Amino acid sequence: MDIIPRVDDLRTRLRDERGVCFVPTMGNLHEGHLQLMRTARRHGTCVVASIFVNRLQFGPNEDFDRYPRTFEADCEKLRSCGVDVLFAPDEKELYPDPQVFLVQPSVLGDVLEGEFRPGFFRGVATIVLKLLNIVQPKVAVFGKKDYQQLMIVKHMVRQLALPIEIIGCDTSRAEDGLALSSRNGYLDASERDRARQLFAMLSQVVAAIRSGRRDFSAIEAETMKIMLENQWRPDYIAVRKQADLQLPTPSDRELVVLAAAWMGKTRLIDNIEMIS
Ligand code: PAJ
Repeated sequence: MDIIPRVDDLRTRLRDERGVCFVPTMGNLHEGHLQLMRTARRHGTCVVASIFVNRLQFGPNEDFDRYPRTFEADCEKLRSCGVDVLFAPDEKELYPDPQVFLVQPSVLGDVLEGEFRPGFFRGVATIVLKLLNIVQPKVAVFGKKDYQQLMIVKHMVRQLALPIEIIGCDTSRAEDGLALSSRNGYLDASERDRARQLFAMLSQVVAAIRSGRRDFSAIEAETMKIMLENQWRPDYIAVRKQADLQLPTPSDRELVVLAAAWMGKTRLIDNIEMIS
């Protein structure tokens, strides 16, 4: 695996590659990331991963400074799943001047995560567009774990006519259902044990809708109450349309149930897609 910190060197390395498939990450890699790499392997002749903790998408009181950085271990994992090139720039390389030219997502970026993390999706869209311009892949792979991020990236690619296919990968979970995340490492043993409740509660919402209920906001309110009773601090639990993350009507069938909640000092997100 070639490890390349400089944009110029990356362009030179990729100049003659025809089938680049790209997976951007912020490192601290787990099995969920590796599933994305394996998916990329099936969609390209040259798999490029990136590791860059993007300051632009962290709020002033968020965890940029303590975000786990595990570069050596990450390289080993990427090698083991056959990644060809790792792009690993530092901040000076990607932001040589302050990044004042920003990509502003549509209203899709203002709801759910966007409401609780103002500016987050602007930071994501800006770095993703920049990385796509640097790597110029045919295909790029993102996880459904970050459902709204995946939708915003797809929307950006359509709206700006980028010649790139975006592939969404199912969420990888621990045995008890908890979605794998770099932030799970912040949980202590007892929090980690209780964190399984997030997926369990999403699953209960899915079951309630499958059983025929269509009073979505009542289901959301009931679930919020249960979360609060179980020492979670939920930001939201929301039943939305898959197509645009707007509120569904009772006749909508393609739904996604999304949640974000704090367990102690750790904010976790998860979602389940469903056809009811
Ligand atoms: P990061 O959180 O490192 O995630 C990198 C990619 O891995 C994203 O596409 C994310 O959705 C996917 N991923 C994370 N956990 C997953 C899981 N349990 N199952 C499946 N896929 C999972 O998302 C980012 O980085 C950044 O916002 C980035 C896109 C790199 C821009 O900075």
